Amino acid sequence: MPEPLAVTSDQARAEELRRLLTRAAHAYYVLDAPEMEDPVYDRLYRELLELEQAQPALISPDSPTQRVGGAPAEGFTSVAHRIGLLSLDNAFSLDELEAWYGRLLKVLDRTGDLAMVGELKIDGNALALSYAQGLLVRAATRGDGERGEEITANVRTIQSVPLRLQLNHPPAWVEVRGEALIPDGTFAAINAERAQRGEALFANPRNACAGTLRQLDPRVVSARRLDFFAYTLHLPDDWRPGPGDPPRPTSQWEALRWLQAAGFKVNPNAALLPDLAAVEGFFAQWEEGRKALPYATDGVVVKLNDLRLQDAAGFTQKAPRWAIALKYPAEEAPSTLVRLACQVGRTGVVTPVAEFEPVPLAGTTVSRATLHNADRLAELDLHAGDTIVVRKAGEIIPEVVRVLSELRPAGAVRLELPHVCPECGAELVREEGEAATRCVNSSCPAILRGALRHWVSKGALDVDGLGGKLIEQLVDRGLVRSIADLYGLDAALLASLDRMGAKSAENLVAALAASKAQPWHRQLYGLGIHHVGDVNAKALAQAFPSAAELAAATSADPGSPDLITAVFGIGGEIAQSVQQWFTTPANQALLEQLEQQGFSLASPLDAEASGTTGPMPLAGQTLVLTGTLPTLTRSAAQALIEAAGGKVSSSVSKKTSYVVAGEEAGSKLSKAESLGVTVLDEAGLLALLAEPAAA
Ligand code: IVH
Repeated sequence: MPEPLAVTSDQARAEELRRLLTRAAHAYYVLDAPEMEDPVYDRLYRELLELEQAQPALISPDSPTQRVGGAPAEGFTSVAHRIGLLSLDNAFSLDELEAWYGRLLKVLDRTGDLAMVGELKIDGNALALSYAQGLLVRAATRGDGERGEEITANVRTIQSVPLRLQLNHPPAWVEVRGEALIPDGTFAAINAERAQRGEALFANPRNACAGTLRQLDPRVVSARRLDFFAYTLHLPDDWRPGPGDPPRPTSQWEALRWLQAAGFKVNPNAALLPDLAAVEGFFAQWEEGRKALPYATDGVVVKLNDLRLQDAAGFTQKAPRWAIALKYPAEEAPSTLVRLACQVGRTGVVTPVAEFEPVPLAGTTVSRATLHNADRLAELDLHAGDTIVVRKAGEIIPEVVRVLSELRPAGAVRLELPHVCPECGAELVREEGEAATRCVNSSCPAILRGALRHWVSKGALDVDGLGGKLIEQLVDRGLVRSIADLYGLDAALLASLDRMGAKSAENLVAALAASKAQPWHRQLYGLGIHHVGDVNAKALAQAFPSAAELAAATSADPGSPDLITAVFGIGGEIAQSVQQWFTTPANQALLEQLEQQGFSLASPLDAEASGTTGPMPLAGQTLVLTGTLPTLTRSAAQALIEAAGGKVSSSVSKKTSYVVAGEEAGSKLSKAESLGVTVLDEAGLLALLAEPAAA
């Protein structure tokens, strides 16, 4: 019986691959001690992916291939926490710490020392993770402490969150809490990328993390590389360890060890502190020490070590009596406002910026700080000559936190965003419901400079030797009025510009010529269409392999961007922005000019890809997924459909070929029934995929 035998060995291989890959990822992301070379990891990962794609029954929810699942969500559901997430009381001085400790001794009716655990207070976002029979089944934000938002698909992308606990006898149910964060380096990279795309910057890593956790598209979350430190554990009373499992913890210190053994990343800087003097030493040590850490901390958390004593101490209305957050003072300083400046970005967004007397802050001298947008400016009620308080900590972008209005000079003028663009004089617009004020003059020099910088940037056309200063000269002298003009520049003209030699001019002309061979998705990204970052550009370029095809899709039915939203990951807002871009005459002219300069604006026919594809039973068909399928995750189902030549759409219409419905299917199922669209279950889908291609 060759068949069943083959299946069994595939299954064994899939399990083996999952074990190897999970172990390697744990070593890399949790222990920070890589034990497998990247190319080896990639090869094994691909092998597993191929096995799973060929035999979806082999997919298990804890497979490393299942971290980035599913199509973008339409929203989040609010869920009740099984155990409320309380906050912590704060102490801002050692006196307040000592007062807290005194109250704790009194409540516990104790004298003498209480052992504490000192942990860093990570400045991230609290998460509650639920594991059932060892599998991650739910992740939720803190919310108001009683109810949070269910963000499981996003949290699954965090590599340091185990999808399955490393225990032989996992509890029927356990809740783990900890802090999700974005490390400073990653934060800087995210903001640099956003600046390049002309998007608003995140004020600090915590805001970036919160914004990321609420992203509807798990692929975006995955790209942002969040991290997670676990710090508390709620085990059911009847849990007993299996062979090799860590013992049931009786203290916070043991709970941290338990979490570590179960596969979580636990912050390595926690310390067991025998008495109050040790707590104060720990606090003092990290006041300086935290500056060298690659993530933000705003204090230390002190927790009574003994879990039975924690129970005895209990809770106040909003916080445990057995723990306290001891905060470091924020890095703030007063300064005097010199000028309100305005920056115009690539997409025309106007950002107000405060320029003030230089002040030393968090290791650098600061003289400019963002005021974010018109609303924030109004909220601060900024006046000329105001004394302001500026904050900066580590990687955080300096910002104005408040205005000391009591020190305001008499008769000072209230400051507002200008009504016209400071660069080109065009009237600024602010759309209903948008925070941003924009210049919409497409020939505004600030926008043009930004567009050129973006076009030549690394992720786009990647042209070396065309920096900001040179772009400024080209625009100011009227030598370049559009992206296409770059390709008409000759070396002699370039060599005559400031700080350019004959050699660098020649190199630049060659680099520009070479950039014409960049793939279509990079060109599309380089055009700087609002909402079309590198990920979306790739998805669009794959579905529409030339500018002509994409343009045709946008003009097919004006007002209905359906052909574009059928692309995986592309929602209505993005589609609308693409449609608007392609139907704007100035942009159509730009595409024409680029073609005249020798751009094909198309993907070369990929012989390899088209030659290796198997039968395409779903070619030309559009499917809609709804509800939870018994074994396939959404991303697995989607990948299978796409591999078979089909498209997955998020809404049901008369043109939908099939609706695949699982448990708790909602309105899409009833819509399919009312339109007479064939409804399949998972088995039906798999049968369809196994059919030979329709003639
Ligand atoms: S324990 C009931 N430990 O600080 C006790 N919290 O200000 C629950 N936080 O909501 C919290 N690092 O988001 C704890 N090592 C740590 C922490 C920590 C950061 C956050 C957490 C909490 C907030 C309270």
